[in-house]
Amino acid sequence: MWGKAFMAQGIEEVLLSEEQIKKRVQELGDQISKDYDGEEIIVLCVLKGASVFFADLCRAITVHLKMDFMSISSYGDAQKTSGIVRITKDMDTSITGKHVLIAEDIMDSGLTLSYLTRMLYERKPASIRTCCFLDKPERRECEITPDYCGFVIPNKFVVGYGLDYKQLYRNLPYLGVLKPEVYS
Ligand code: IMP
Ligand code: MG
Repeated sequence: MWGKAFMAQGIEEVLLSEEQIKKRVQELGDQISKDYDGEEIIVLCVLKGASVFFADLCRAITVHLKMDFMSISSYGDAQKTSGIVRITKDMDTSITGKHVLIAEDIMDSGLTLSYLTRMLYERKPASIRTCCFLDKPERRECEITPDYCGFVIPNKFVVGYGLDYKQLYRNLPYLGVLKPEVYS
C-alpha cells in the first residue's frame, strides 16, 4: 500500500484485530481494577515487547498505579528463549511491601516470567501477579500460568501490538501471523 517496505506484506493472517484487542484490554483493566480495589499497584512493563500492551492496559485500569520498566535479555534466538535471563535495565521503584503487576507480551515457554517473578519475590513485595497479553500454553516448559491473560493463541509465531520479529513489526496495530518466508 505504501511501497515495497510496507510491513503488512509480511503478514499471512490477522489473528486479532485492533477492535478485538481494544475490547479485551478494557475487560482486563476492569477485572484488575476490581481485584485491586482500594489498593495502589506498581505495573511493571517488561520491555520492549509489552510496551504497547502496557500503555493501553494502564489506561484501562482505574486504581492508582505507578509505572515502572524493566529490560531483560534472554539468551536464545529470535523465536526461542533459553531461560537464562539477564537484567539490562532494572526498575527504579522499590517494590518492598507493594503490589506488583507484571505486564508481559506473551507467555511462551514461561521461563522468562518464572525467572523474573522468582527474582522479584526476593525483594519482598506484598504480592506479584502476572498479566500477559497472550498465552501459548502448548509451548510451556515450566509450571506457570498468567494470573490475567488477554488471549490464548495457537502455537504460531505472531507479531504486532508490541511483539517483534528481529525488532520489526512492533508497530503493527493488530496481531498477525508472520509469513514463513519472512523467517525461513
Ligand atoms: P518465554 O520465556 O518462552 O515465555 O518467552 C517469552 C518471550 O519470547 C516473549 O516476551 C517474546 O519476546 C518472545 N516470544 C515468544 N513467542 C513469540 C511470538 O510468537 N512472537 C514474538 N515473540 C515471541
Ligand atoms: Mg521479543
